[in-house]
Amino acid sequence: MSDLSPLSDPSIVPNPYPVYAALADRQPVHWCEGLDAWAVMRYADCADALKDSRFKAERMEEVLEAKFAGRALPPDNIYHRFTKNVMMYTDAPRHTALRRSTHAAFTREAHEHYSRVIKRVAYELVASIPVGVTEIDAVSALAAKLPVNAAVQAFGVPEEDLDFVIPRVDAVMTYWSGPQDQPLQLELLLDHLTDLHTYSLELVQGTRGKVLPETVIARLAAAQADNVDSTLEQTIHQLVLLLIALFAPTTPGSTSSGMLSFATNPDQIERFLTDPACADNVANEVVRYHASNQFTWRTAGTTTLVDGVKIEEGQNVALFLGAANRDPRVFERPDEFDLGRQNSGKHLSFGVGPHSCLGRQIASLELKWFFAALFARFPKMSLAGEPIWNPNLEFRSLRSLPLRLG
Ligand code: HEM
Repeated sequence: MSDLSPLSDPSIVPNPYPVYAALADRQPVHWCEGLDAWAVMRYADCADALKDSRFKAERMEEVLEAKFAGRALPPDNIYHRFTKNVMMYTDAPRHTALRRSTHAAFTREAHEHYSRVIKRVAYELVASIPVGVTEIDAVSALAAKLPVNAAVQAFGVPEEDLDFVIPRVDAVMTYWSGPQDQPLQLELLLDHLTDLHTYSLELVQGTRGKVLPETVIARLAAAQADNVDSTLEQTIHQLVLLLIALFAPTTPGSTSSGMLSFATNPDQIERFLTDPACADNVANEVVRYHASNQFTWRTAGTTTLVDGVKIEEGQNVALFLGAANRDPRVFERPDEFDLGRQNSGKHLSFGVGPHSCLGRQIASLELKWFFAALFARFPKMSLAGEPIWNPNLEFRSLRSLPLRLG
């Protein structure tokens, strides 16, 4: 099949939405050779597929073959042990047990604690901009630091280990992102996965660094002894997945694109500051307007029709969450950034269904407190230059965002 899909054109990354809208109207499910997948553009089709057990999350063996053809690995290799034992790449019933095994770190009480910690982290971060500075690159000065500081204070990653963890997660993310072109050597990927496993085991066993009390890692470690849903090895796999999600470009991507949305819609800063309902809606509308994970993957477990298009068993689908969020069938005036929108919370930026983002509340707390801290100090911030996007549509994030602080 030839690739006529405009989704393969990297020049759409700064503004993919007109392309999405045209496709959603004319070819809501179409083959994209560059992704080796059916691209699904409409909200209802994406949401249905994410909830449909005929579309499988368990697909990493096929991904290995697509990225490293002919490089089969033995079943006890770290690659298979990891991907077959993490919630993100398993289906029910294993997925259900693995996800439940992390419950102790994601209770209501735990989130109330994280909220207090993240609030402090956000205000300290904004206060770290020296008095008298009038212009910043908001990506390096703010967006990149927010999840890292939250990882230390709310997640419990010891600060002295950041230089060990972050480069490994960055490298592993190049494997997870994108379809075939694979800049990371397989041996290096396996080494990094092994390192992250050894590291996580040491954290849980208390033989490495000091994990702050009441953090995600402290709670997972404390609950391990009574955990009937997973083995120690499986808990370690979930922790590695959490580390990858924690340092992935998604949270900085949402934070920086959110600043861009406000900088180009200054009336919404005013609404944020004067209307508590609008302030409460900030995380939802920020991630609806720009999804930092523009599409996610499934594989058809059986031949299935989506919007009248036949998807054969074993074929991939790329579910365009970023397009679903701008679907006029669900969101009125979808291309307007509007904190007063009643249904922003219906966005698909965190997925939906069994695999919906486990870190959704934490990421939302980071966005909520970050914008509260930012506008408390800089209510007149504005764009100081051209924003630059990273050349990655799947994990869409800004490389640079020049802001005038006002
Ligand atoms: C703005 C930031 C974030 C965005 C946009 C985001 C987005 C997503 C999306 C779209 C999914 C579903 C993928 C699918 O169904 O295929 C997902 C799953 C997941 N996310 Fe996030 N995420 C964010 C932050 C985080 C954070 C901070 C954590 C760590 C606590 C996290 C942990 C996870 C996990 C563990 C899953 C897999 C859940 C499962 O398979 O049951 N995410 N995320």
